Amino acid sequence: MKKFSIVIAGGGSTFTPGIVLMLLDNLDRLPIRQIKFYDNLDSRQKHIADACEIIIKESAPDIKFVSTTDPKEAFTDVDFVMAHIRVGLYAMREQDEKIPLKYGVVGQETCGPGGLAYGMRSIGGVLELIDYMEKYSPDAWMLNYSNPAAIVAEATRKLRPNSKIINICDMPVGIEERMAKSIGLKSRKEMVVRYYGLNHFGWWTDIRDLEGNDLMPQIKAHVAQHGYSLKEEVEDSQHTDASWMDTFSKAKDLYAVDPDTLPNTYLKYYLYPQEAVEHANPEYTRANEVMDGREKHVFGECDKIVANGTAKGSTLEIDEHASYIVDLARAIAYNTHERMLLIVENKGAIANFDETAMVEVPCIVGVNGPEPLVQGEIPRFQKGMMEQQVAVEKLVVEAWAEKSYQKLWQALTLSKTVPNNEEVGTIRLFRT
Ligand code: NAD
Ligand code: G6P
Ligand code: MN
Repeated sequence: MKKFSIVIAGGGSTFTPGIVLMLLDNLDRLPIRQIKFYDNLDSRQKHIADACEIIIKESAPDIKFVSTTDPKEAFTDVDFVMAHIRVGLYAMREQDEKIPLKYGVVGQETCGPGGLAYGMRSIGGVLELIDYMEKYSPDAWMLNYSNPAAIVAEATRKLRPNSKIINICDMPVGIEERMAKSIGLKSRKEMVVRYYGLNHFGWWTDIRDLEGNDLMPQIKAHVAQHGYSLKEEVEDSQHTDASWMDTFSKAKDLYAVDPDTLPNTYLKYYLYPQEAVEHANPEYTRANEVMDGREKHVFGECDKIVANGTAKGSTLEIDEHASYIVDLARAIAYNTHERMLLIVENKGAIANFDETAMVEVPCIVGVNGPEPLVQGEIPRFQKGMMEQQVAVEKLVVEAWAEKSYQKLWQALTLSKTVPNNEEVGTIRLFRT
């Protein structure tokens, strides 16, 4: 059986150890001969790489491990690039969140002015990874979850139209796990869903069990009362902080706006922006929570592994909920035709929506990549919201490609999160 070679781009990410542990836990489903780490910041990657080298040696000594900042070494002889880079690091995430909040505007990693600023930084970084992949391993596929995925996806569609990149998000996966648990199922794999939207901006329209029975009424009854909160919390190493718990319970109010569908949690920034601002602490945002929480924990544990020379006793956890990445790699490698939610060019999947928009819809995935499933016509409410948001995302990419300050200003002005042009002017001036 063929064994695969994988490079993780953004080796220094807080998510890298959880992904490595997850890959090691899934070797029977996706055999691996080589794991490489690539990052453009050696000092950060080294902490994670030195620990992961020990983890790999202890549990799968046959796997060759390479950690490098040299693109040629990283991207040569690989089948998959798993990309999760954060251009600008947490320092810039903090600014993305705090600058808008200073003016009473949503301060968020992927939504609103912060998300657009992050997009302007990420586009170049991800295009560079694609170019390395195409130069050194032209047959490889990039599974990208670097954010903001909506803007990155539009940039790759427009600027690298033939590249073998698939953009994917874990939020629907996490929400579906919660839906499944809320009605007593073991896992989301017992459900088949229909869904449409943009990344971090979508709705479920149909959820059935494997026999075809409609599960929507039961799930809706739960969401109407509790949002996506659960009596007993699910094991999900990422979405556990109090701020995430607030987000899951807020889904109740998002659902009330359109009880025909079930909402993605990120819609709270567009439907209740003022509340998001009022609940935020402009001095201590999610970036601070992550730096004080996940980053300290992961880097602390990695340094301990290196000091002890063993991973025994480590509290690093398998990122089980990231196993959708293995599902995606397997779908391509073994032509499994797995049905997955992916961010793809619309091309009629949503009948009454821009054909060139990058939308998030269920796809069948095989050796040729994703084949989107038609979701038909969408209602006026969602269509109106999506048209506004997709225009924002396309304007950001045009602003980047054309170096147009004007278009970025238009994108900011058009974002539903920005109440009026005055705030935009202030943010704009502050940034220059
Ligand atoms: P992090 O800052 O810990 O890690 C990012 C790493 O990328 C850093 O080590 C940094 O040095 C590296 N990097 C930055 N620019 C680079 C470049 N041009 N080339 C190579 N490496 C580069 O961040 P994190 O919190 O672990 O998140 C990583 C990424 O994953 C973010 O983009 C985050 O938004 C994304 N993410 C996406 C999803 C999803 O649903 N799509 C889920 C979780 C995380
Ligand atoms: C969800 C989203 C990701 C986002 C992450 C932020 O998983 O789907 O796109 O990056 O949340 O999580 P964090 O813990 O970094 O705030
Ligand atoms: Mn996401």
